[in-house]
Amino acid sequence: MGVERVQDIATSTFMDTIPAEFIRSENEQPGITTVPGTVLECPTIDFSDPDEEKLLAQIFAASTGWGMYQIVNHDISNEAIAKLQAVGKEFFELPQEEKEVYAKDPNSKSVEGYGTFLQKELEGKKGWVDHLFHRIWPPSAINYRFWPKNPASYREANEDYAKNLHKVVEKLFKFLSLGLGLEAQDLKKAVGGDDLVYLLKINYYPPCPRPDLALGVVAHTDMSALTILVPNNVQGLQACRDGQWYDVKYIPNALVIHIGDQMEIMSNGKYKAVLHRTTVSKDETRISWPVFLEPPQDLEIGPHPKLVNDKENLPKYKTKKYCEYVYNKLNKIPQ
Ligand code: SIN
Ligand code: FE2
Repeated sequence: MGVERVQDIATSTFMDTIPAEFIRSENEQPGITTVPGTVLECPTIDFSDPDEEKLLAQIFAASTGWGMYQIVNHDISNEAIAKLQAVGKEFFELPQEEKEVYAKDPNSKSVEGYGTFLQKELEGKKGWVDHLFHRIWPPSAINYRFWPKNPASYREANEDYAKNLHKVVEKLFKFLSLGLGLEAQDLKKAVGGDDLVYLLKINYYPPCPRPDLALGVVAHTDMSALTILVPNNVQGLQACRDGQWYDVKYIPNALVIHIGDQMEIMSNGKYKAVLHRTTVSKDETRISWPVFLEPPQDLEIGPHPKLVNDKENLPKYKTKKYCEYVYNKLNKIPQ
């Protein structure tokens, strides 16, 4: 008997309640803690704007303020996004035993594979979500063992998306560097240059009879440097602003950018990792495709040397290997 999947729990029986381990404490329940009726307008940035000064200023403001923003007119075609989404959805709609072929090896250190409940949560609570993780870039980091063979076009759609994403990533890192007064290539170099890893996750949130009581993914900041996400059309992403939870407006084909922990660290706290979580829907399946841009595991990350000194700009974060940071965070060890 393998791990129980949320998708099975959601479809096996008719339910109007959910198992106790999915019921959140009152300070987390979305039915109580979401600011009603306000869909958050986190910044939307037109990536095709020829005025680079303006673009730079917008990205800087959004990265130091919200830590989350949506970019539109980013040159990844709607078709490329639709294909990525179609093949991922098809995979999750396969019979359970076909998906289990890709199950994460519980003894492996890598997160890659199909699975449920990545993180041990406080009080043993569970998120209403299953997932698939695999790297999509650079080509040398890809392990096709975790790329579904079915549907047949899965590989092409994902390779195509990775290639497209590459251009967006280069541009974002450039602007984020310039915003801090660094050289255009400095931040990219600091996260590993061409060895920067793109780790794709598919979150699959089946319909949930009690979306007011459960969460998809519990409140967190991403460990990555940056995360670039496309959701399907079901509302569910929430961001925390001044201690309150708001729905983030769904914009078709926009890329949702999250500033992650490594970017906050490299910028010595100038850029802010965004606290976010996801809710689930009563009738619809929500799916999202975040790509985590991560340094190689053994690379040391700390405040960028050009941004700190031993006088007025003291480092606010310790420098450590990315794998150590991840280990500490997953095991709730102070950094
Ligand atoms: C996540 O933060 O891991 C998921 C975000 C989403 O599903 O929109
Ligand atoms: Fe996240």
